[in-house]
Amino acid sequence: MAPMLYPAGTTTNSRGHLEIEGCDTVELASEFGTPAYLFAVGEMRSRARAYRSAFADRTDDFEVLFASKALPVTAAYRLFAEEGLSVDVASGGELTMALAAGYDPARIYMHGNNKTDAELRLADRSGVGHLIVDSFDEIERCERVLERNQDVLIRVTPGIRPSTHTYIQTGQLDSKFGFGLEDGSAATAVARILDSPRLNLVGLHFHIGSQIFEIESFRLAVQALARLRGDWCCIVNLGGGLGIPYESGDRPPPIEQYVALKVGAAREFFGERVRILIEPGRSLVGTAGVTIYTVGTIKEIPGLRTYLAVDGGMSDNLRPMLYDATYEAVIADRPDAPAERRVTVAGSHCESGDILIRDVALADPQIGDTLLIPATGAYGHSLANNYNGMPRPPVIFCEDGEARVVVERETWDDLLARDA
Ligand code: LLP
Repeated sequence: MAPMLYPAGTTTNSRGHLEIEGCDTVELASEFGTPAYLFAVGEMRSRARAYRSAFADRTDDFEVLFASKALPVTAAYRLFAEEGLSVDVASGGELTMALAAGYDPARIYMHGNNKTDAELRLADRSGVGHLIVDSFDEIERCERVLERNQDVLIRVTPGIRPSTHTYIQTGQLDSKFGFGLEDGSAATAVARILDSPRLNLVGLHFHIGSQIFEIESFRLAVQALARLRGDWCCIVNLGGGLGIPYESGDRPPPIEQYVALKVGAAREFFGERVRILIEPGRSLVGTAGVTIYTVGTIKEIPGLRTYLAVDGGMSDNLRPMLYDATYEAVIADRPDAPAERRVTVAGSHCESGDILIRDVALADPQIGDTLLIPATGAYGHSLANNYNGMPRPPVIFCEDGEARVVVERETWDDLLARDA
């Protein structure tokens, strides 16, 4: 087991099974069924604390926002609220979950490149603290729809392209998000909002991409953003983006270093008077979560390949198909046994591309074993779908040897629930 990929304290227990925060993952598979998303609560808390203390060591004026698209689960909103994080929501649905979890509306920041009238009304009614305005049409829509005055930030694409998958690069001029810096539209938006009777401009925002290891790009983005600074600017929101390890060789920068860089850049280019915000998603929950499956079929094509099929796939983890994302896996029944059989881990869906891992060595896998894929805590549950009528897996929180279901498994009957 590569320790970086697993929550702290993951061990092999006395029965020889992989254990997460005191919970035997093989037992959880038989108790709750598979596939299932398991989360180490202590790991989520300690990552939230790592962010806050890295900030607190450097500045008094900051907010860490949970980018909730990574794990939009009411219990996760509640947990991060308890840890003193604010929250980023990207839709009326995420806003509804944050409010249901009891989030103080003042601590909610709402994003979206195409917020609807209904979403803006919900934000207005619930007293959302800040909207991040994304387009000229949205400015007009806000002025038409909002009944109270609203503090806003402007989302800027600073023209920086970090090295990550093109689908998750978001800071370049050619983007559906935000106002371009290079083409002057960000400066026009600033002037337009400063003139607005309804909107009160308080800050700037960028999010240049996700799963980033080369954090120097953030410094360049802050430097570029600073071209817009003015007296009105008391908040700079520097987005999320810190990468996590998906495979044993991956070495993302630690939270401490990432925060040091962002705070340093904000102080250098915006001075001491701005409040600094960031919006981590993946790096709060990614390595806190694992997915467990049951091995169902092993098909050996002599001299070619062995397909090991599990009871989930692209419906619970779309990332390999969307981004060519790579993962490792372990047989949770015997994590310490030598991994000598090379297989391709396939899902159960009607697509040849439904492959979770192209090539992984496992310890003599057998039908009925529990296969565990680490580092699936971010964007697994949130991208889950019902392809092939597959019910979505439960979300289970593990803490001090106790496992608690926080999102139930969908049932076959649930698939009929929306029939009109
Ligand atoms: N802030 C904004 C405005 C964002 O759009 C995002 C992610 C974040 C913060 C959080 O970024 P993070 O810290 O998680 O990198 N589905 C893709 C990731 C899409 C990210 C979208 N925006 C994946 O599974 O890799």
